[in-house]
Amino acid sequence: MKTIPLNYNRTQNSPIIISNTFNDLYTFWKQANKGQSILCVTTHELESLINEHLTPLFQESETNFHIYTIPSGEPQKNLTTVSEILDILCNLKFERIDTIIAFGGGVIGDLVGFVAASYLRGINLIQCPTSLLAQVDASIGGKTGVNHTSGKNLIGSFYQPLCTFINPKILHTLPTDEMRCGMAEIVKYGIIRDPELFEYLETHANDLSTYQYTDAPDKWDHIITRSAHNKAEVVQLDEKEAGLRETLNLGHTFGHAIEAAHRYIDYKHGEAVALGMAIAANAATHKSLLSNEDNERIQNLLKNLKFDCELDHLQINDYIPLLQSDKKVRKGKIRFILPVSIGDTCVYDKFTTPDLIQAYKSLTDKG
Ligand SMILES: NC(=O)c1ccc[n+]([C@@H]2O[C@H](COP(=O)([O-])OP(=O)(O)OC[C@H]3O[C@@H](n4cnc5c(N)ncnc54)[C@H](O)[C@@H]3O)[C@@H](O)[C@H]2O)c1
Ligand SMILES: [Zn+2]
Repeated sequence: MKTIPLNYNRTQNSPIIISNTFNDLYTFWKQANKGQSILCVTTHELESLINEHLTPLFQESETNFHIYTIPSGEPQKNLTTVSEILDILCNLKFERIDTIIAFGGGVIGDLVGFVAASYLRGINLIQCPTSLLAQVDASIGGKTGVNHTSGKNLIGSFYQPLCTFINPKILHTLPTDEMRCGMAEIVKYGIIRDPELFEYLETHANDLSTYQYTDAPDKWDHIITRSAHNKAEVVQLDEKEAGLRETLNLGHTFGHAIEAAHRYIDYKHGEAVALGMAIAANAATHKSLLSNEDNERIQNLLKNLKFDCELDHLQINDYIPLLQSDKKVRKGKIRFILPVSIGDTCVYDKFTTPDLIQAYKSLTDKG
């Protein structure tokens, strides 16, 4: 078991526990001495994992252990589902000392985190991420929230959990395309701040690119732990997104426009972010901010990790107006995070429209 301490404002402690046994989650909860009731919220498919791993542990004690399941998918991340879960908490007469566990991917984490922040103005929350993306990214940092018909993640709050409990072993049931999506965020940490992690990915790309946890458990454990450390360090230094946290946006500005233009159907988030990072690296080299050699390393790593780094040139004009609606636009200028080396970035806001078209074109056969 490894524990990464995470302190906000020197007072609030929200540790990340990484362990391959749920006994450690139970022990943590027991020691934290948090009420007698627990509501574990998850998606229908994951209920059997809870029954296998958590129910026997919690039912051993005098705990009232409840499970509530919802369908999976981004459309569930809305105020109607929030209201449903709040009803359950009211009916069960949950008190502030009781605990809610978010057991699932980032959708569950964001949604249940928001419920925990709202019920009685804040009830104990344990984030138990089960997708790779949630383990290395979404469950760390306290951002919670739901979507609105006007946009993604428009309603939400910052709410830190009692702990984030990461059990990498649970990934053995995660579909390979979801594993690859999480990998995009891991590559991102390597590029923005962790050259050793980047090198490790280069060395082990072969073993990792099967995207089966059981093919290389030690390697997956290593990169998950390293990524959780990176995310924790960034959010600790910049909890409310005043500066440093912006670097986590590498590949996301270019990528969001691709996701949106394809109506969130053709590309998963991680796939779009991988394309976005390849575009950002090409654009940085084009502006002489990144060496050819480092750019090649980025492009090669993405390819070796089986990301598709080619775009259809026909759609490129659709992406440009969508870039303007990115939430990182400040005073009409789009702020891009660009790599300047493996492990360092800059903010760049001087692209012209032809520059942006050229950046996307760099991934087409006409580039
Ligand atoms: N709060 C943050 O800082 C933050 C950061 C990044 C992303 N997010 C949010 O996270 C969400 C995306 O998260 P995601 O990629 O985990 O998607 P997701 O929650 O939809 O999970 C992906 C799929 O995998 C399934 N799944 C999860 N764990 C599994 C397991 N162990 N075995 C089998 N199936 C499993 C889920 O049921 C779902 O069908 C988005 O809503 C995004 O906005 C939040
Ligand atoms: Zn992302």
